[in-house]
Amino acid sequence: MDLFEAIAKRACVRDLEAVDIPEEDLLKILDAGRRAPSGMNRQPFEFLVIRDPETIKALASAQSCIGDVSCAIALVADPERSRWWLEDISAATENMLLAITALGYATVWIEGTLLREEATHKTTLGVPESLRLMILLPIGKAKEPVAQPAKRPLEEMVYWEKWGGKG
Ligand SMILES: Cc1cc2nc3c(=O)[nH]c(=O)nc-3n(C[C@H](O)[C@H](O)[C@H](O)COP(=O)(O)O)c2cc1C
Repeated sequence: MDLFEAIAKRACVRDLEAVDIPEEDLLKILDAGRRAPSGMNRQPFEFLVIRDPETIKALASAQSCIGDVSCAIALVADPERSRWWLEDISAATENMLLAITALGYATVWIEGTLLREEATHKTTLGVPESLRLMILLPIGKAKEPVAQPAKRPLEEMVYWEKWGGKG
């Protein structure tokens, strides 16, 4: 899938079903995350691939749709390695979202519900206390056709040359 098509098609999908994800595809998704920009190229993030059904089940307490898939990626950041760790891990996440979409899978950026019980989920995954377990991406297939939710039109958010300038 072309990059611009993936950008236009990407959507957070919560109605997921499990699907086999060949290692080759998984590595492409992880590699997309690895290649994200980061402040001073410090790359203060690591990725954890979760396929064990018991672990997936435990993580579903963050958000039930995690329990519907057979594979999830957790994105973990080290705030000690960069002051821009949050921007960096977000860039890695977006790269992965686009790769997942381009490969024909579906996912959802799970952060808000994960952080409510971050300490619990860190224990489940064995993530060291000093690191932040920020985002989970369950990877599956969309049960229903996916449509990206409406976005504000460009005319409403783009100015030309000066603030407020219309093109
Ligand atoms: C920082 C951040 C945190 C998010 N946390 C959650 C979450 O915990 N659970 C969830 O279902 N969606 C979460 N989302 C997904 C948003 O709800 C979603 O991106 C938004 O509704 C726009 O929809 P779209 O991604 O399909 O364009 C999060 C997105 C971002 C960027």
